[in-house]
Amino acid sequence: MPDAITEPAGAVRRCVCPGSFDPVTLGHVDVVLRAADLFDVVHVGVAVNPAKRGLFSGAERVDLVRAALDAAGGERAARVVVEEFSDGLLVEHCRRLGARVVVKGLRGGTDYAYELPMALMNRHLAGVETLFLVGDPRFEHVSSSLVKEVARHGGDVSGLVPEPVRGALLRRLGGAVGEDDPRPPRGAAGGPSGGR
Ligand code: PNS
Repeated sequence: MPDAITEPAGAVRRCVCPGSFDPVTLGHVDVVLRAADLFDVVHVGVAVNPAKRGLFSGAERVDLVRAALDAAGGERAARVVVEEFSDGLLVEHCRRLGARVVVKGLRGGTDYAYELPMALMNRHLAGVETLFLVGDPRFEHVSSSLVKEVARHGGDVSGLVPEPVRGALLRRLGGAVGEDDPRPPRGAAGGPSGGR
């Protein structure tokens, strides 16, 4: 096995919560804050795959995760650092940060099947351990891709994503007009086009 990532005695205990976060959901926020119950500092790693065009840019995703955490507030959110990593392996990102644990949420068996090979590979590559947190059942049906689909078709995503993300989705895609949204309904003269 390659050189293990070591934490000096008494060092700050760090973990990395990696993902695409395109966009961040309330399920993600729950996992990140629960990771902050277990570690001194949580590094949210926003992975940007240059070969895949996301709905939001890396910088926008970082800003939305930060805004979501600021909206959640509290001492735990203040111990979360949000940063983009677009180049290279997750384990190298962990090495740079001095983190030897990755934290991921699991909504069910499908997530486990997807995550297991990555967890094994990260341990194989650098001894990085993966800690799975059981997802809150309130968010079992919530994924970034479903949220985008709902928003794209004009559905209401409140209760699925943090408010700043709901606003960003409305601006990017159009969608259900909430009570606090001053825009005219979709399709009305001068209203936003729902085509994008
Ligand atoms: O939210 P996602 O898209 O399921 O997150 C997947 C992610 C970004 C965590 C994974 O693709 C990843 O770690 N990418 C970085 C490149 C890497 O290390 N690949 C090998 C992982 S075994």
